[in-house]
Amino acid sequence: MLSTRPTPAMGWNSWNAYRCYDINEHVILANADALIRLGLVESGYDTVVVDDGWQAPERDGAGALRACPQRFPRGMAWLGEQLHARGLKFGLYLAPGRRTCAQYWDAYGRTTRRGAASRPRWPITLRARLGLLAPDIADVSAPPASGDLGSYRSEAADLSQLLDWGVDYLKYDWCRAELGTAYTDCREAFALMGHLIENSPREMTYSISEYGESEPWRWAGQFANSWRMTPDIAARPSAIFAIARASAAHGAATCTGHVGDADMLQVGNVALPARLRRELDRTHVLLWAMLASPLMIGTDLRQLAATDPVVAALRNPEALAVSQHADVSCAELVAQEGAVDVYERSLAGERVRLRVNTSWRRSGGLPGYGSELRRL
Ligand code: GLA
Repeated sequence: MLSTRPTPAMGWNSWNAYRCYDINEHVILANADALIRLGLVESGYDTVVVDDGWQAPERDGAGALRACPQRFPRGMAWLGEQLHARGLKFGLYLAPGRRTCAQYWDAYGRTTRRGAASRPRWPITLRARLGLLAPDIADVSAPPASGDLGSYRSEAADLSQLLDWGVDYLKYDWCRAELGTAYTDCREAFALMGHLIENSPREMTYSISEYGESEPWRWAGQFANSWRMTPDIAARPSAIFAIARASAAHGAATCTGHVGDADMLQVGNVALPARLRRELDRTHVLLWAMLASPLMIGTDLRQLAATDPVVAALRNPEALAVSQHADVSCAELVAQEGAVDVYERSLAGERVRLRVNTSWRRSGGLPGYGSELRRL
């Protein structure tokens, strides 16, 4: 069954903080404990998603996905029990093609003593350009191989595996699923998994990502709770503001239970002087709230104190009241006044306006990267 939650999902996802490196059961549970300790669960962040990199580099003899034994020695069912015992929901990542994104972009799957991937010495984009990452697959008729961690032709089995593990949230990520598969249109792949979820006994949030390439705002609301609209977010102010503008341009389909996804938050991750970062983090959450995007924290929470400005930005009651308002719609970008972007959204007839300074310099009466939310 597809989740019936009316408002955008909230939680924590491993990707922006760890990519496919350095995740394991201790790291995930320590972040889950931090969500509780910092009051973030109380504020609504109730789902912990383990993104790409949880899988063993090979499927088992029967073709089933397994947890990476070095990283998750007690398995995903155990991890799910631990999260559920803490009152949290459990999310996992799958991809519809033959490989997952980390198999293409991070060469995930090369076994090392520490697990299934080690941090590359060179930047990932450079390695990809030089062809040092996993090779493309051209043969559409080849049977799935044990090293294919994507769900192509294993969709029902992989979903049922996740259901057995108690998974409540699926991130289904296109990556390059057209390679070596019969897919000519990504809609087929996402609809297939959507159909399987709809007909499964457990309620599951279905979050899809194909980076906006096939205009998912036109079709994904039929079977998904959320759909990405842009390429991956980076930990830079310009990336955050560009994604917000692009998301607002394609937000008309956002409605109760089905929302455009502006990607995981980079709150806490942007390298800036403290004062600027404090403003940016606060603005970032307010923006995502105005867009009615899911709010998935993407930073390492383990060392944070409850008084940290990162926590204050994430728990900002003004932002969360907008994000979780029963009248779910995406803000429009109504004006750009110099460096200041102006967004507006209706909340049950009441109009709210967010003015955002996208520059590090003071402008429009706002501090660098600062913002102001007003009811009109
Ligand atoms: C893509 C997605 C990211 C993340 C990675 C995992 O790049 O957009 O959010 O899930 O794949 O490999």
